[in-house]
Amino acid sequence: MLTPNLTVNEQGHLCVGGADCVQLAQQYQTPLYVMDEAVIRESCRSYHRVMEEAYHGNGMICYASKAFSCKEIYRIVREEGLGTDVVSGGELYTALQAGMPAEKIVFHGNSKTYAELEYAVREDVGRIVADHLTELAMLNEIAAVQGKTVSVMLRVKPGIDAHTHDFVQTGKIDSKFGFALETGEALEAVKACGTYSNLKLLGLHCHIGSQIFDTAPFAEAGRVMVRFMQQIRADLGIVLPELNLGGGPGIKYVQNDDPRPFGEIVNDIIWAVRETCAALDYPQPYLLFEPGRSIVGASGLTLYRVAAVKTIPNVRTYVLVDGGMCDNPRYALYQSQYEALCANHAAAPKDAVVTIGGKCCESGDLIGEHMPLQTVVAGDILAVLATGAYNYSMSSNYNRNPRPAVVMIRDGEAREIIRRESYEDIVRNDL
Ligand code: LLP
Repeated sequence: MLTPNLTVNEQGHLCVGGADCVQLAQQYQTPLYVMDEAVIRESCRSYHRVMEEAYHGNGMICYASKAFSCKEIYRIVREEGLGTDVVSGGELYTALQAGMPAEKIVFHGNSKTYAELEYAVREDVGRIVADHLTELAMLNEIAAVQGKTVSVMLRVKPGIDAHTHDFVQTGKIDSKFGFALETGEALEAVKACGTYSNLKLLGLHCHIGSQIFDTAPFAEAGRVMVRFMQQIRADLGIVLPELNLGGGPGIKYVQNDDPRPFGEIVNDIIWAVRETCAALDYPQPYLLFEPGRSIVGASGLTLYRVAAVKTIPNVRTYVLVDGGMCDNPRYALYQSQYEALCANHAAAPKDAVVTIGGKCCESGDLIGEHMPLQTVVAGDILAVLATGAYNYSMSSNYNRNPRPAVVMIRDGEAREIIRRESYEDIVRNDL
């Protein structure tokens, strides 16, 4: 099995965290997102632990909630001592509604609106990561109107190639995010902060990309950023107290994926930062990390019901399911690889190679191609694994398909944390 929390019971049914997936599909209908709370909590703890052990707790792990945002996930990560990263007014609202303390929220976004910034300042969000000069000017104006001083960080492009899919790379110079280092733009942004009386520059941020297996680019980003902090000290006499190194550690989607434990990756980054600080005689900054996928990705799976199997001789076999790109657009967007299995015959050998097709009116609506699978028939339950990150959060109502429910498993028991959308929900804003 892909992860240790997946087992097969005596009826041959797939179980997640001790809950029978076939029963879940019957009780909650399909498509259904299922998440295992123990896996989420353990991921939070492994990050938290390394921060305590390798860096004396001088930092904060902020869950990047773009990976999966709803009230319950903020409650869980908060209980585990994490803060959160939000990237829109909607995520900010959800986090605050769930009781996430504002000071533990980091607000990102390369194109935040004036209204979003006003909202964040009004709520006293702990850190706003500014992405361009216009944002700094807007923020200063908003802060002045509200009579506040706003803590900001600057998003920097450190010029690092992260060895991942181009669409999820963000640290290179040709990226819409942040201020480039090599052009001098980032240094200019630091200077600009000094001209705004209602802004307090806390530090720098970078995020080099997502689903990265290799530690080297992360550690290099840490070194580059500390060197830049030293340059700021030398040129401007400013010692910045904080450094946020973003998210990005990859997870295991298919058997061949072999990611290093997240704790080890963070440990390596912390060492790179410490060494560079020591070499430059720079005070060790308060460190922030923003993992998203690696907190929730492996905890989730999606259950579908097989609607039909269509074999085109000498071409391929389509297994058609009752969901698709509306609940998981990642194959359509990035050709992401997934593992699937028949949840009601989970121990049977995978003797077929299939394409899983969704129900949307679009040929590209696939969950995957060339996927090994048990021989299935209409009515079988299909499980697609490791769908906890960037699935629900990127889902849509394309073709007016209602979004599936999300259930959370704890101690073998399921509870609904997001209700299935109804047809009434689909028309609720139609006039
Ligand atoms: N911090 C910042 C500023 C980010 O932009 C991101 C992800 C993260 C943290 C969290 O990265 P993670 O630990 O989850 O890799 N939709 C794509 C992924 C986009 C990631 C965007 N930014 C996917 O489905 O693969």
